[in-house]
Amino acid sequence: QADVFTYDPGFTSTAACESKITFIDGGKGELLYRGYPIDQLASESHYLEVCYLLLYGELPSKQQMEDFEYRVTRHTMIHEQMKQFFQGFRRDSHPMATMVGVVGALSAFYHDSLDISDPWQREVASIRLIAKLPTIAAMAYKYSIGQPFVYPKNELSYAENFLHMCFSVPAEDYKIEPALAKAMDRIFTLHADHEQNASTSTVRLAGSSGANPFACIAAGIACLWGPAHGGANQACLEMLREIGTVDQIPEYIKRAKDKDDPFRLMGFGHRVYKNFDPRAKVMKESADEVLDLLGIHDNETLQVAKELEKIALEDDYFVSKKLYPNVDFYSGIILEAMGFPTSMFTPIFALSRTVGWISQWKEMIEDPTGKIGRPRQLYTGATYRDYVDIAKR
Ligand code: SDX
Repeated sequence: QADVFTYDPGFTSTAACESKITFIDGGKGELLYRGYPIDQLASESHYLEVCYLLLYGELPSKQQMEDFEYRVTRHTMIHEQMKQFFQGFRRDSHPMATMVGVVGALSAFYHDSLDISDPWQREVASIRLIAKLPTIAAMAYKYSIGQPFVYPKNELSYAENFLHMCFSVPAEDYKIEPALAKAMDRIFTLHADHEQNASTSTVRLAGSSGANPFACIAAGIACLWGPAHGGANQACLEMLREIGTVDQIPEYIKRAKDKDDPFRLMGFGHRVYKNFDPRAKVMKESADEVLDLLGIHDNETLQVAKELEKIALEDDYFVSKKLYPNVDFYSGIILEAMGFPTSMFTPIFALSRTVGWISQWKEMIEDPTGKIGRPRQLYTGATYRDYVDIAKR
C-alpha cells in the first residue's frame, strides 16, 4: 500500500479537486503515477500495466495482468455499424475531428445499457474505452489516406496492434519491429496521465453531471486538440520544419521573446513544470534510439530541436521564466520517423491519455471530494442597472 504523505502544493487557493492518481512537483520536475516515477515506468513497465496501475492504484500480479490484458484485447473491435460514421466526414477532415465525433457516438451504442452508478458497468466502460481508442484512431488515419480499415489482431500487443491497424494494408501486413513497438508503447506511457490538465479537468467537469463516460471522453479529446495543449506536438514539428536550419534559430528565439509577436516556441513551457518536464528527457533519449533504429542519421529536424533547446536553455529570458522543453518537444520527431503524418500526433496523444481521463473520471464518480462540479467565478462586470428602451439610447 503506498505511503500517504503530505506536501506543500505551492499554492494557497483551494485545489480544484483531490486525487490519488498522479503527482507532479513542477519545481523539481517530478512526475509519479500512483507513486511510481515516470522514468522507471517508461523503461521497466509497459502501457497496459500502467493502465492497470492508474485505474486500480496498484501494480498487478501476473494473473491480474493476464486477466486485464485478455479483457482489453477482446474489446478492441468497434460495432460494424460505426464504420458508417466515418463516411460522414470529408476525406480531408483532421483525424481529431473524426475522433471527437466517433468517440462521442460510442455513447449512442452503449448509452442505454450503461448505468454509471453500477461499479461493474463503470469498469466495462473503462475497459472498452482503453481497448477501442487505438482502433478508432487508426480508422481515422486510414480514412484520411483513403485506405481500407484494418481490424485488430488478438495475438498482437497493444502497441503492435496500433501499428498494424495504421500501417498494414490488405495486400501486405506491416512488419512489426519489436524495438519500434516498444518505443510506441513508451510514448503511450509518457502521455497516460498528468493530473488536472485542461482536458482531464474537462472530462471531470463533464462527468460531474452524470453524463455518459464516452461523451465525457469525447469532450476531453476536443479540449486536448488545442495547440496550447495536446495540439502542441503537431505545432512543434511544424515549427521545427519552418525554422528549417540551425542558423535560423536566433530569429525565432527573438520572436518568442517579443511580447508583440504572438509566436510561441511550441513544445516549450508548461503551466506546472518550472524545471525539465521528466517526460521530455525520456522522449529525447527515445528520439535518438528510434532514429538510429530506422537508420536515419543527421536528421535535420532533430538537430534543430537539440540546438534550439541548447540555445534557449542558455538564454536569460527562458531561464528567468523557467521555460523548458515539455512532453511535446521531441515526440513529433519520433512519430514522424515511425511514418505518422503530423495530423496523427495529437490522436496518438488522445488514445494514450484515455486511460488517465477515464481513471480520473472513475475516481471522481467514486469519491465526491474529487467532483469539480460547478466552478464559481469572480464577477468583474457592470453593476445593477435598469433597461433603457432603444428609442432613448
Ligand atoms: C501540454 O497541463 C498539462 O499538464 C498539459 C500537458 C499534459 O500532459 O496534459 O503537459 C500537455 O499541454 C504541454 C504544453 C504544450 N503546449 C505547448 O508547448 C505550447 C507552447 N507553450 C505555451 O503556450 C505555454 O508555455 C503554456 C500554455 C504551456 C503555458 O503558458 P503559461 O501558463 O503562460 O506559462 P508561464 O506562466 O510559465 O509563462 C511565463 C512566461 C509568460 O510571459 P510573461 O507573461 O511572464 O511575460 O513565459 C512566457 C509567457 O508568455 N511563455 C513563453 C512560452 N511559454 C510561456 N514564451 C515563449 N515561448 C513559450 N513556449
